[in-house]
Amino acid sequence: MLNVPNHVAIIMDGNGRWAENKGMDRFQGHQQGAETARSIIKKSGNLGIKWLTLYAFSIENWARPEKEKSSLFSLMVKSLSEELPLLLKEGIRFRMIGDKKNLPENLIKIIEKAEYITRNNSDLNLSVCVNYSGKNEIIESVNKILKDFIQDRSKRMDDSRDKEKFDFLQLDDSFFKKNMHSSELPEVDLLLRTGGEKRISNFLLWDIAYSELFFTDTLWPDFSNDEFCRILDEFNLRERRYGNV
Ligand code: IPE
Ligand code: IPE
Ligand code: MG
Repeated sequence: MLNVPNHVAIIMDGNGRWAENKGMDRFQGHQQGAETARSIIKKSGNLGIKWLTLYAFSIENWARPEKEKSSLFSLMVKSLSEELPLLLKEGIRFRMIGDKKNLPENLIKIIEKAEYITRNNSDLNLSVCVNYSGKNEIIESVNKILKDFIQDRSKRMDDSRDKEKFDFLQLDDSFFKKNMHSSELPEVDLLLRTGGEKRISNFLLWDIAYSELFFTDTLWPDFSNDEFCRILDEFNLRERRYGNV
């Protein structure tokens, strides 16, 4: 392997179909999917990948049956509790990206605990997107900027010397990004979706502007470290031109 991408983001899709194909309950697919996630996280750390972002639950996933959602959240609590020692041992910094509102209390608690106790780790930055929407993240950034601007402006209006400066607001890429929930995440180099669908499903819209896209038919529970390495090898063969010739 020549070099590894700085930021890999994965849409972990296909758990339900994996289970249904085997005549199992969808939940068993999610359980097996959690095993795959564990293995890919470990592999990423060993390979020296600095940023790994996993899509675990989208805002649209609220449409699923109650039973599936509650078992998924319980699985997240269980997996995260069990993996905490591994995160610490492997120097992994954990972040959750998404809206904590509406998530079960015990899930928020373990997420916050994991974020806190791993805050000084820096070998691998692991972000898990839960209750996440790429569109909402953009809208929330705009709302935050507007709110700060209006507050700032009304403060400064008292001082007539500053009034001119605040008469208009101009955004640029980096200022906009700074106000996003995922402000610390760098641009995504490699975006991978398992499970055969060729769509983005509202994932990281801003940061995938120049990502290399990879789609595999492999269902997430069957996704292996070997296939991951093959994709990383193929990434090295791609020529990233960024609009240049
Ligand atoms: C991805 O697997 C996990 C979540 C979206 C939570 P799915 O549950 O979407 O699996 P399929 O696409 O139905 O097979
Ligand atoms: C995308 O998978 C979301 C996650 C993997 C968490 P979905 O299964 O929800 O996506 P759609 O509905 O097929 O687009
Ligand atoms: Mg799916």
